[in-house]
Amino acid sequence: MKTHKIAVIPGDGTGPEVVAEGVKVLTAAAAKYGFKLDFTYFDYGGERYLKTGKIISDEEVQELTHFDAIYLGAIGHPDVKPGILETGLLLKIRFDLDQYINLRPVKLYPGVDCPLKDKGPEDIDFVVVRENTGGIYTGHGGVTRKGTPDEIATQVMVYDRRTVDRCLEFAFELKKRRNAESEKSRSKPIHLVHKRNVLTHCGDLWYRAFEEMGEREYPDIPRDYMHVDATTMWFVKNPEWFDVLVTENLFGDIITDLGAMIQGGMGIAAGGNINPEGVSMFEPIGGSAPKYTGKKMINPLAAIEAGRMMLDFLGEHEAAKAIEKAVALTCTKLESLSAGKMGYNTEEVGDMVAEAV
Ligand code: IPM
Ligand code: MN
Repeated sequence: MKTHKIAVIPGDGTGPEVVAEGVKVLTAAAAKYGFKLDFTYFDYGGERYLKTGKIISDEEVQELTHFDAIYLGAIGHPDVKPGILETGLLLKIRFDLDQYINLRPVKLYPGVDCPLKDKGPEDIDFVVVRENTGGIYTGHGGVTRKGTPDEIATQVMVYDRRTVDRCLEFAFELKKRRNAESEKSRSKPIHLVHKRNVLTHCGDLWYRAFEEMGEREYPDIPRDYMHVDATTMWFVKNPEWFDVLVTENLFGDIITDLGAMIQGGMGIAAGGNINPEGVSMFEPIGGSAPKYTGKKMINPLAAIEAGRMMLDFLGEHEAAKAIEKAVALTCTKLESLSAGKMGYNTEEVGDMVAEAV
């Protein structure tokens, strides 16, 4: 029987609760579709850091490369200063394992409350391809004259052509697959999102690379460019325009939070940090929600969706489809996707999905 080795990092706050439900559903899918999942747990996160002062070492990150995928709950602890765990753990794994794509589907399931007036599941079904290892996140820059009235801080957006090209290639290939699968996708262009009217150096690099690759390698795929500020406007007004969007790191971070909201909120939004040639990591995109910790109020669907993406990535397409169907069915039964308002507790929602699988 085929076995996939999964490194599980439940993390902080409600992370462990939602990961437990994800593992439950994944295990049910594996039993049904005839493969095995071998889970190994790691305690990286805020608690361990507070106890030992250690976040994650180079060796520990390298150990993760012996797995087929990484399944992450949430990172962020109320007693740890913001930025420490984010950069030391989450971003370190993304960067060290060269997970250069952050893939964030935005799909509204039937029955889910959408904050957009007059928009339904047929209008909201797109994917944001966020570049995940470059840009402002590289930490270039610094501070001079700190603490004085003359203090200057810089944080520099850095992109090289190769980083841009590999991200664009992933996005064009995804668009090609979606076009092959659906008439609706074929009717929509691929969008490049940037701010090239102001960020003239980086924006121009992305734009030229997008145009050149599109024209040379994907001449049948219509292309469109959109400024990031305008994109947030159109996500709200005309989400049905979108199928695949590709963008740099920080813009992708921002627009995918908006994307999460229009698909029903953090209770359902998931993403994958992908290295197509290496080890990828899948996570719900919401935070550790410390105020709900241990209360069984948090919605596990986002973690379950992350698990679904992981199975799809591991080649278990049928099992992934089954989870998607089970999640869609569960969405019609919940009163709301928000924590504490689901009409069921965390475990019950996990059970509903697992049973439907
Ligand atoms: C996300 C998060 C992270 C990011 C933070 C926690 C570093 O907001 O995954 O979107 O900015 O990428
Ligand atoms: Mn974010």
